[in-house]
Amino acid sequence: MKTLPGLLDTDAIRKDFPILDRVVHDGRKLVYLDNAATSQKPRQVLDVLAEHYERHNANVHRGVHVLAEEATAAYEGARDKVAAFVNAPSRDEVIFTKNASESLNLVANMLGWADEPYRVDRDTEIVITEMEHHSNIVPWQLLAQRTGAKLKWFGLTDDGRLDLSDIEQVITEKTKVVSFVLVSNILGTVNPVEAIVRRAQEVGALVVVDASQAAPHMPLDVQALQADFVAFTGHKMCGPDGIGVLWGRQELLEDLPPFLGGGEMIETVSMHSSTYAPAPHKFEAGTPPIAQAVGLGAAVDYLTSIGMENIARHEHAITEYAIARLKEVPDLRIIGPATAEERGAAISFTLGDIHPHDVGQVLDEQGIAVRVGHHCARPVCLRYGIPATTRASFYLYSTPAEVDALIAGLEHVRNFFG
Ligand code: ALA
Repeated sequence: MKTLPGLLDTDAIRKDFPILDRVVHDGRKLVYLDNAATSQKPRQVLDVLAEHYERHNANVHRGVHVLAEEATAAYEGARDKVAAFVNAPSRDEVIFTKNASESLNLVANMLGWADEPYRVDRDTEIVITEMEHHSNIVPWQLLAQRTGAKLKWFGLTDDGRLDLSDIEQVITEKTKVVSFVLVSNILGTVNPVEAIVRRAQEVGALVVVDASQAAPHMPLDVQALQADFVAFTGHKMCGPDGIGVLWGRQELLEDLPPFLGGGEMIETVSMHSSTYAPAPHKFEAGTPPIAQAVGLGAAVDYLTSIGMENIARHEHAITEYAIARLKEVPDLRIIGPATAEERGAAISFTLGDIHPHDVGQVLDEQGIAVRVGHHCARPVCLRYGIPATTRASFYLYSTPAEVDALIAGLEHVRNFFG
């Protein structure tokens, strides 16, 4: 079997993921290359989820009984784990949401309802980029429509990177917030955070980072990023679905208003008005995703035990190998950076004029799972004049043999479509 420098012991790791033994379509072994859509879950996370429901299930922060105390300790313990995972200065800066989309919507709504100096209104500007996932476009469009603020964005270079050549015209004294993706889900690009943050800080704009495709794959340090808010989701990082995270700087969370009202986010309520609990509870109205948070805590333990540096090194090796092999396939065009430098492990491509949906279907018949379409980043497809892409995306359990299976699968696609 092919080995590459920097690879993890995937034989051992894959034993943790029961689903990777699945057989699909006529006895073909599953080759799961859709990790940017969602990751698979290790036994260590599945066991914790089962144990939570079998032994500790109760609502949190409310009861005085044993199960309520155990469930609350597990839920709040997950917050401690996530805080340590992203090097947050305080556990109270970690807000649990449903997913990264909800985290980003939460920030946009907080800023829309905020008082000065954070308030977004008709005299201000919001800056995003052309490579955002729809979850980091639509909430800002909604905010701009509601407030009259102007929405601006950085365009893309031909090789799939942000065009920052006009950074001083895009981020100006009027900019209130700059929100951008750390690693693109469609292009794979890793963005130059430092340059964007430096300019945002010069004009006093808040910085929001969508780290959905970064948190699962590389060390994430919110203090080093120097952002004000960082959003990510649990299901892409070996955790369950239904749990997202918003990290925010403590003083901002103290100043900003809540978005959703309800149980557990209050201090006192009368029929005329209410006062609010301190963060993070101010932003967690209602019964939270308890088991999901506990599962995310287990996922953080799992990833930490392997080491995020080691995972990043493994994925870099796989990505470098995959790019080299994809370049051997005639008529294949990589959409995004065509080297492994400053890029993540999601690789989009087109194959001649074969529609990506056809590519995906023929690959699926061979047991190979990829994603096809615009990947919730339609402006990227418009920018490059394509209707859609095929995307292969790797994770800590991906192997060179799976890359080889993809290449063989693509040869089969080419033969099939003549
Ligand atoms: N955001 C996920 C993806 O890129 C769903 O596939």
